Amino acid sequence: TRSAQRAIEAFREGSPVLIHDADDREGETDLIYPAGGVDPEDVARMRNDAGGLVCVALSSNVADALSLPFVQDVLDHPAANDHELAYDDRSSFSLTVNHRDTRTGITDADRALTITALAEAAADPDPEAFAETFRAPGHVHLLRAAEGLLEEREGHTEFGVALADAADLPPAVVVCEMLDDHTGEALSPDDARAYAERHDLPYLEGRELFAGLDR
Ligand code: 5RP
Ligand code: CA
Ligand code: ZN
Ligand code: ZN
Repeated sequence: TRSAQRAIEAFREGSPVLIHDADDREGETDLIYPAGGVDPEDVARMRNDAGGLVCVALSSNVADALSLPFVQDVLDHPAANDHELAYDDRSSFSLTVNHRDTRTGITDADRALTITALAEAAADPDPEAFAETFRAPGHVHLLRAAEGLLEEREGHTEFGVALADAADLPPAVVVCEMLDDHTGEALSPDDARAYAERHDLPYLEGRELFAGLDR
């Protein structure tokens, strides 16, 4: 579709894209950036305008190459025994990390450094260099996309990595949920679309992106 193509073009140029998954899933819109171009102002926009959790989604191949597990599989604690999500079979959470050159890890500059270095790690995955560059735990949540990407799971993790693939960018994207400052709930699709129009950003339903990809 035209809107999917426009979103892919904008993303390739470094613009964030808003993606709403589906009413019968999370019912959330994430602000999604290619990880490589994220600067401190972008992190500030995520925490001020989006307000959710700032996460970096990596492809399954990159996560495998860097030995980044699903955290549920490695947590030896009864709370991790049964994930019981209401909206999907499993979450995509992996480790949390900070770049080793950060101090606390949470500031806009610290998170931007961690995020851009993750894009470099995804472009050329090297497990030894990864451990030299990042410490875990940290303040940026890593997410692992499903191996079969959108054929297997239709989460923001997969939509984001699919968008990076379509734009020929490294498979590392930042996702952050948009919340409504007045209600505390997920921002409604109408309000998310209005935000996108106000800021001249692409807004897509997940299924529009899915339909617009060459497979
Ligand atoms: C982590 C999340 C977000 O919803 C994020 O979009 C990744 O999850 P998913 O792939 O399940 O949509 O919960 O902040
Ligand atoms: Ca806010
Ligand atoms: Zn999500
Ligand atoms: Zn969520």
